[in-house]
Amino acid sequence: MSTLITGIGELTTQGGLGTLHNAALVLEGELIEWVGPATSAPHCDTAVDVEGRAVLPGWVDSHTHLLFAGDRSAEFGARMAGEPYAAGGIMTTVEATRAATDDELRANLRRLVAEAASQGTTCLETKTGYGLTVDDEVRLARLAAEQVDEVTYLGAHVTPPDTADYVSLAAGGMLTAVAPHVRWADAFCETGAFTADESREVLTAAAATGLGLRVHANQLAPGPGVQLAVELQAASADHCTHLTAQDIDALAGSTTVATLLPACDLSTRQPLPPARALLDAGARVALATNCNPGSSYTTSMPYCVATAVLQMHMTIDEALTAATRTPALSLNRPDLGHLTPGARADLQVLDAPSATHLAYRPGVPLTWAVWRKGTSSRPAPAR
Ligand code: NIG
Repeated sequence: MSTLITGIGELTTQGGLGTLHNAALVLEGELIEWVGPATSAPHCDTAVDVEGRAVLPGWVDSHTHLLFAGDRSAEFGARMAGEPYAAGGIMTTVEATRAATDDELRANLRRLVAEAASQGTTCLETKTGYGLTVDDEVRLARLAAEQVDEVTYLGAHVTPPDTADYVSLAAGGMLTAVAPHVRWADAFCETGAFTADESREVLTAAAATGLGLRVHANQLAPGPGVQLAVELQAASADHCTHLTAQDIDALAGSTTVATLLPACDLSTRQPLPPARALLDAGARVALATNCNPGSSYTTSMPYCVATAVLQMHMTIDEALTAATRTPALSLNRPDLGHLTPGARADLQVLDAPSATHLAYRPGVPLTWAVWRKGTSSRPAPAR
């Protein structure tokens, strides 16, 4: 079944065709089949006229923690009154998550996936890390794989107070049990969480089992996380809030994507990451929400894109690439994040004539329609 989307005022392909005007594209099953000028569009089974609106790839949100239960709004309120964010708050969510049933966790995940989709997100990565026992980490990985594209093992999130040799477990039996359910492994390399040596132990064991690597790096203070990510050729170093010149050079000289999480920095009253310096040095930069109940409780990629442009001095084009093509690269998903023939048919239509409106009209819900795997999950509102 083929669908022609026509009347596209501005088409951001994030592929070789760049940005097109008065364009059309054809979806065939789950894939993009054709992209080009509306005047030469082929005949299809059905057609949708988007009446001059902007079309772009669906967002690829490459860093979230969506498998959780409980509420930490009181912790957030205390932070807004001057308390610092600390890694230890994670254990509050661990306790609530362990106590939740599978169906409660499924329902919360479903709610957040739908909330993200309603804002244009068509690919989500999510992490374990609120279980921290072998059985709970396996449970979270299994539940995550039911609903999201990419799942990451984050047994090295914080050290539970009741476990004497937790690093050996996270790099050993826990990893072995979780590995069949995930494609990625991550470690929170930070004061109050895991040291560089502890993180390296978990991550090298994960790489030996065939998992790709990601690292929570330099979130709350300068530290060894970014250098570790580059040393281990991790696909992504995430947060990158507190970087030295050496960290920026290391990222620029590597294949490791710097995944910036501006909603988290705002919610924890940290400085925003040095996106401009990273881009100017030649580093690859991605943007993600880091949706979680502690440090960043938002699923909104449009909010991250607007913040990146308005406050981090990224151009509109840089921010769009950082929210689509580059996070797809960091997830080793060449089929996502661009609208070219053969790509997965994941796209969003804005109720605006150009993608510039994402930053020009911050905070305004502009998502008009979304297709994921060729199926419209958020039809345009009736008019
Ligand atoms: O990426 N930093 C570690 N993990 C999450 C926070 C999780 C929490 O506070 O519950 C993050 O910010």
